Amino acid sequence: MEKIKFFYGDDVPLEMHKVRVVQKLNLRKIDERVDAITGAGNNTFLLQNKDVFLDMLTDSGVNAMSDIQMAAMMVADDSYAGSQTFTKLENKVKEIFGKEYFLPAHQGRACENILAKAFVSEGDCIPMNYHFTTTKAHIGANGGYVEEIVFDKGLEVTSTNPFKGNMDTNKLKGLIDQLGREKIPFVRMEAGTNLIGGQPFSLQNLKDVASVCRENDIPLVLDASLLADNLYFIKMREEAYKDTSIRDITTEIAECTDLIYFSARKLGHARGGGICTNNHDMFMKMRELVPLFEGFLTYGGMSVREMEAIVVGLDETMDFNMINQGPQFIAYMTEELQKHNVPVVTPAGGLGCHVNAMEFVSHIPQDEYPAGSLAAAIYIAGGIRGMERGTLSEERFPDGSEKLADMELVRLAMPRRVFTLSQVKYAVDRISWLYENRNLIEGIRFTEEPKVLRFFLGRLEPVSDWQKKLADKFKADFGDSL
Ligand code: F0G
Repeated sequence: MEKIKFFYGDDVPLEMHKVRVVQKLNLRKIDERVDAITGAGNNTFLLQNKDVFLDMLTDSGVNAMSDIQMAAMMVADDSYAGSQTFTKLENKVKEIFGKEYFLPAHQGRACENILAKAFVSEGDCIPMNYHFTTTKAHIGANGGYVEEIVFDKGLEVTSTNPFKGNMDTNKLKGLIDQLGREKIPFVRMEAGTNLIGGQPFSLQNLKDVASVCRENDIPLVLDASLLADNLYFIKMREEAYKDTSIRDITTEIAECTDLIYFSARKLGHARGGGICTNNHDMFMKMRELVPLFEGFLTYGGMSVREMEAIVVGLDETMDFNMINQGPQFIAYMTEELQKHNVPVVTPAGGLGCHVNAMEFVSHIPQDEYPAGSLAAAIYIAGGIRGMERGTLSEERFPDGSEKLADMELVRLAMPRRVFTLSQVKYAVDRISWLYENRNLIEGIRFTEEPKVLRFFLGRLEPVSDWQKKLADKFKADFGDSL
């Protein structure tokens, strides 16, 4: 079911959709690319999209929408209060996740703000398989801290383990024994664990975590932003569920949880977010925060049109032929890069292809941001915009020293149904070329360093003139070619 078999030659992922709206792309000349990344302070977040050829920064809010989603937007019931579109969304969430109460929010981190404000107090611990940047920031801002208890093998960059996002339930029990239940307002599981390479958890692991939580009367919270990929991997990699429908797997997942929140910039392929639960007390505690931070309870900061699109998007997420496209393209890109010996996270996960900068540029010390340097170099090599997911994405310790990340990754996100296979091949070509020339890449250092979430707005400079040398080598090898 995963791939359509080809009669001649190797199988490649086959798009189960056709493209009917297109957007023109620009591929700048190599010197212009060096100028653009310099202007952006060597931070790919600060590049102008007009200077980007393949925007692989994120899959957030940039997945292709379907014709049915676009059509639904035209019938939105645009009212401040009591919108029928909201009722549709509430009902769709109830249908898919089986949760009675739904709160809208403008995006994923807004849900995290509400959760943290409602439930996290000074000194509280939130155990999770792995943190996400904004999740950790909100928990920290409310006086809590995060304990990452992904099982040890989850942090092995190359592996054949199908479920590197699993939580270590023994560590969870140990933590509860050590801290006491009252210091743990909830346990958080993240589907498609973002920062360790879009790695899934197994449904069995989620069930095991849920039973530890229930024994100890601790709510289990699911961050379902990357649920679509995790659903695909459960079906493809977990023997017990290979014949279970995506909808039924979703139901089983939801039954393990007390609360689910999601960024609809990812789940549902539109822009927005939401929180759902069957727990009336939790709902009431969070509800009062929505009008304060988001908007009235029937839109929560979302455009009503986007809510219509999410209703359809959630339904489409239940379609295996829709959610298999991203992981298949990511696996293809990962395998092709491996053929050129480029170090990548394996097994291929969801969200994007993750290049292992720790090995790619092993000569760059971690406090000169190997993943940030490599992200800048990938842009120079091909006009491809990836995202640093390493030490730059961490925050310094209170004494000002660097918290060195467990992994130094450059994430090349695969917005769903956006790129063609030839564009992916081009990215593989330029990144493989860069790998051959990796010794030319050197570090970067801050010229402007924000205190919070510094990776978004920080500006950096190369430690030498290595970028010019890289551009010269490109011109020598590629001649007139862009
Ligand atoms: N949780 C996870 C697992 C995420 O990946 C994200 C966003 C959020 C929460 C926050 O959601 O952006 O709607 O506020 N991830 C994006 C990314 C930003 O590029 O990986 P948001």
